[in-house]
Amino acid sequence: MYQTILTSLDENILTIAINRPDKLNALNRQVMQDLNEVLDEVYKNKLIRSVILTGAGPKSFVAGADISEFVGLTSEEGAALAKKGQDIFFKIENSPKPIIAAVNGFALGGGCELAMSCHFRIASETAKFGQPEVNLGLIPGYGGTQRLTQLIGKGRALELIMSGILVDSHTALQYGLVNYVVSQAELLDKAKSILTVINSKAPLALAASIAAANAVFDETKNGFETEVREFGRCFGTEDMKEGTAAFLEKRKPAFKGV
Ligand code: COA
Repeated sequence: MYQTILTSLDENILTIAINRPDKLNALNRQVMQDLNEVLDEVYKNKLIRSVILTGAGPKSFVAGADISEFVGLTSEEGAALAKKGQDIFFKIENSPKPIIAAVNGFALGGGCELAMSCHFRIASETAKFGQPEVNLGLIPGYGGTQRLTQLIGKGRALELIMSGILVDSHTALQYGLVNYVVSQAELLDKAKSILTVINSKAPLALAASIAAANAVFDETKNGFETEVREFGRCFGTEDMKEGTAAFLEKRKPAFKGV
């Protein structure tokens, strides 16, 4: 079905692996198209409750946008490429279902940006993060200048963006770029165990949590107002009635996503 990604659904968790290991999973046009399509599936398919995004092979999550596709682009074409990439990454960020990155190696340029568009990240010991676009006479174009600054602060973000240096997983943990660092062998199991807990919660409350947290970074929205609206909306759900009733009756809730 997809040419450049592998998917597998297990216990309502969809694992998506970018699969161009010979090119360190660089994001070419086909990968971006496949990602866009699989995200439509994530939004629509009720069997998918949450997603792990990772890279195929032992070496790389994603080593950036495919540099070979940059050759000969005009300024307008470069801007259009960035806009298209940003739109796909917004689809990840605004997904009503949790999407987490399991960073298994290089997360550089567009790869770091892809990981940052996910709701949170966990990394293997071997992961390396960076925005080395400056080495190509470029800047990050898929949201990196914004999300890196949001996640780790302006000073650290500009140091990484202007120097092009890579940081290891422990530095990424210290910066707050990732939530956990585990061994390569444990990475997917760790991601699955976190999502198993999250999947047991009310799906509409998860979607509301994402929408409210995202509003912090959207200047067209008032985050506190978004929180009030989403909080209120939860009261209109069957799952909220079930959750409160289950607490009072001292039993486990059975959420249905309605
Ligand atoms: N775009 C296109 N191809 C890429 C790529 C990218 N971003 N990153 C790696 N590749 C390709 C290499 O060209 C090479 O292909 P080849 O075997 O056909 O020559 C293959 O992936 C393996 O990469 P290689 O450079 O040989 O591996 P390495 O272990 O020596 O170095 C990196 C790994 C990540 C340090 C190095 O590949 C690199 O610097 N990549 C570019 C990172 C970058 O600038 N990303 C931002 C892009 S905007």
